[in-house]
Amino acid sequence: MVDRILLPRGTADILPDEAPLWQAIEKKARQLLQVYNYKEIRTPVFEETLLFKRSLGQTSDVVNKQLLELASHNEESGYALRPEGTASVVRSYIENSFDKKESISKFFYIGPMFRGERPQKGRLRQFHQIGVEVIGPGTLTPLLDAEVINLSVELSKAFGLNDYKLKINSLGTLKDKEHFSLFLRKQLKEHLHSLCEECQTRFERNVFRILDCKNETCRKIIAKIDLSGSHLSKESQEYFSKVKEALNVLKVPFHVEPQLVRGLDYYTHTVFEITSSGLGSQDAVGAGGRYNHLVKELGGEPYADVGAVGFSLGIERALLACPKKEIPDESLDVFILALEDSFQTKAFSLLNEIRHLGLSAEMGYSGGSIKSQMRQANRLKAKYVMILGEDEIKNDEVAIKNMDNSQQEKVAFSKVKDFLMQIRS
Ligand code: HAM
Repeated sequence: MVDRILLPRGTADILPDEAPLWQAIEKKARQLLQVYNYKEIRTPVFEETLLFKRSLGQTSDVVNKQLLELASHNEESGYALRPEGTASVVRSYIENSFDKKESISKFFYIGPMFRGERPQKGRLRQFHQIGVEVIGPGTLTPLLDAEVINLSVELSKAFGLNDYKLKINSLGTLKDKEHFSLFLRKQLKEHLHSLCEECQTRFERNVFRILDCKNETCRKIIAKIDLSGSHLSKESQEYFSKVKEALNVLKVPFHVEPQLVRGLDYYTHTVFEITSSGLGSQDAVGAGGRYNHLVKELGGEPYADVGAVGFSLGIERALLACPKKEIPDESLDVFILALEDSFQTKAFSLLNEIRHLGLSAEMGYSGGSIKSQMRQANRLKAKYVMILGEDEIKNDEVAIKNMDNSQQEKVAFSKVKDFLMQIRS
C-alpha cells in the first residue's frame, strides 16, 4: 500500500465548485476598491525574516510563535513566509520611492498569508486576506482613518456580512502607548500571580496583550481597571474625536472599546476590528488601524513624516461568518455528444471552432451511450447539446437540443456558425 500524502494541517484546497465563490468575492472587492481609488500591489509571499521582526514586533505572537521560516540557503538573514501584508507593502513603498511620486499612496492586495498557528475553526496556517494600506506624508488626517474603517465595513457588507460589530479604540502616540503600558503594569502588578501563565510573561514583554486574554480570571481582573483613555494626550484625544466625528458623518455605527489593543506592535492612534458573533473565539473578520511610525522604522529619518493606515479582512473568516453563500452558477454553453467513436474527430474539430468563438464548450471525450453523455451534459449545466449521430453525419448536419425547453432542431453544418453567433449575442 502506498502512503498517501495529504494536505498540510491548517490549509485547505479551494475546489473547483468553491472557486466561483472566491472569484465572486474577489471581483466584488476589486470593484469596490476601484471606486475608492485603491491600486493593486502584489508583493512576494516570502520576505527577509528581519522585515517581519522589525515591523510586527519581536514580542508579538505572530513573530515569536507563528513565523514560518524557510530553510536557510546560506543567506545572512533567512526568509519567512509572510504572516500579513502590511510589512511587505511598506517595504515596497520605501524601495520604490513612492513618497517622491505622490503624497498619498493607496494600495490594496489580495492573497495568501501564512502563520504557524494551532489550527481551529477560523484559524488556519494558510489563509487569505484582502487588505488596504494608505501610506504617505499626506495621510495624517482623521478623514483617512474614517475612510479606511468605512471601506472595511463596506467590504464586509458586500460579502454578505450583516451581523457584525465595529469596535474602535485609540492607542495614541508612541509616548501615550508608553504611558498606557506603565499605567497597566501599575494596575496589574498586585494581581500578577493571579494572571494566567501566558499573561505573566506578557506582563514584561507586551503588557497590552493581557487586555485581550480569553482566560476568565484575567478578564475579571482587567474588567476592574478603568481604561477610559486617561493615558491619551490632549492631541490624541482630539484626533480620536475627529475620527469618530468623521465616522458619524459617514453614518458608520461603531462601539468604542477601550480594551481593544491588537496583536501587532506597529499601531499608533486608531485601531479597529470587525467582529461577528457567529465565529466563536476567533471572531475578528477584519482588523486594522493607523501605524505612523512603521515607515520611519523601516526606512529611516527621511520617512519621519510618513504616516499610514490600513486594514485586512480574512476571506475564510468572512465566508464562515456569512449566513448565505450564493455560489455563482457556472454553466456551459455547448456540450457535444458523438454517438459513435468514428465521429469523435469531427466532434473534436467542432469543439475547437466553438471555443474560438468565445463560447464555453466541452465534449464527451470517452464516448459512451447517449444516456451517459446526456448525464454528463446535465452535470455541466450545458445550455445546448449538439448531437452527432449516424443520420446527422450522413446529412452533413447536427442535432441541437436546447436544454432549457428540451426542443431539438437540425442545423446544417454550414449554418452551425450562424447558430452559435446567435446564442453568443
Ligand atoms: P490581523 O488582525 O493579524 O491584522 O489579521 C487580519 C485578519 O486576517 C483577521 O481579522 C482575520 O480575519 C484574518 N486572519 C488572521 N490570522 C488568521 C488565521 N490564522 N486564520 C484565518 N484568518 C486569519 C493584520 O494582518 C494587519 N496586517 C492588518 C492591517 C493592515 N493593519 C494595518 N494594515
